[in-house]
Amino acid sequence: MKILTFSAIKGGVGKTTLAFNYGEWLAKHGNKVLFMDLDHQSNLSQTYNIYATENTVANIFSGQGQVDIHDVSDNISLIAGDLHLDDVEREIENKTNKNMMLYMWLSDNFDYLNLGRFDYIILDTHPDFSIATRNAAIISHAIISPIIPSEHGYNAKFNLEERLKELREEAIDFQSRKSYVTAQLYFVANMIKHNTKSSHELLDSIKDEESVIGIVPSKELFNRTTLDKESLSTMKQDHSTFLKNREFFEEMDNVFANITKNL
Ligand SMILES: Nc1ncnc2c1ncn2[C@@H]1O[C@H](COP(=O)(O)OP(=O)(O)O)[C@@H](O)[C@H]1O
Ligand SMILES: [Mg+2]
Repeated sequence: MKILTFSAIKGGVGKTTLAFNYGEWLAKHGNKVLFMDLDHQSNLSQTYNIYATENTVANIFSGQGQVDIHDVSDNISLIAGDLHLDDVEREIENKTNKNMMLYMWLSDNFDYLNLGRFDYIILDTHPDFSIATRNAAIISHAIISPIIPSEHGYNAKFNLEERLKELREEAIDFQSRKSYVTAQLYFVANMIKHNTKSSHELLDSIKDEESVIGIVPSKELFNRTTLDKESLSTMKQDHSTFLKNREFFEEMDNVFANITKNL
């Protein structure tokens, strides 16, 4: 099983859209995928028409009650987001093990919930490095962070690198001094346009960076995926849509294959 988190300090950069389409792509390729929606805005859950108020991710962080795994699509399951996750995060702020709640929940429930049936767990997060995001980082093999062509995009990249470094130093086993954080941090340049200065500047500044593992163009079809609740993998099955957007589908296949290769 591989675990990956989509994270960025900035909102509106494409975390949810990339997480959704990547998970769907994995599922179409025969993998069993579990989504966990750690953003209290719950956009990913809404994409699957799940509006749960009980047995959500909040129960993982409060350490109380049950957690439901919803089977939402072929090969895809989801643990719903919770509009009050931010309140729960505040409540556990002073607990010493606050960053380890997800880690402990996974090991406590691995057999009980048969989590071993999943090939991938994909976590979507709120735009910050809050307790929920730190918990996600600790259990992940990789963190994928979208950056977009704006001044702040590049600052956000630096910011996330720093935050992860701090967490790596803080979240250690006190006996062995080894860090619980083993995740590799990767970036995907998103919403890239052919004809804008800011896109060219971003591409230029990242061209030698090995941590950048994908470039995703700005594309209305991609924007539509979360609005229409239909992933690229599903859209692709429509022959005329495929023919009209062939190059884009191939580009996205490459991006997703490259993410998979780096896990
Ligand atoms: N490559 C892209 N091209 C066009 N629109 C995009 C692209 N990536 C994301 N979007 C759109 O940008 C908005 C923000 O994306 P979202 O995934 O919700 O960001 P986040 O989860 O980081 O807040 C959404 O409306 C989404 O459809
Ligand atoms: Mg989001």
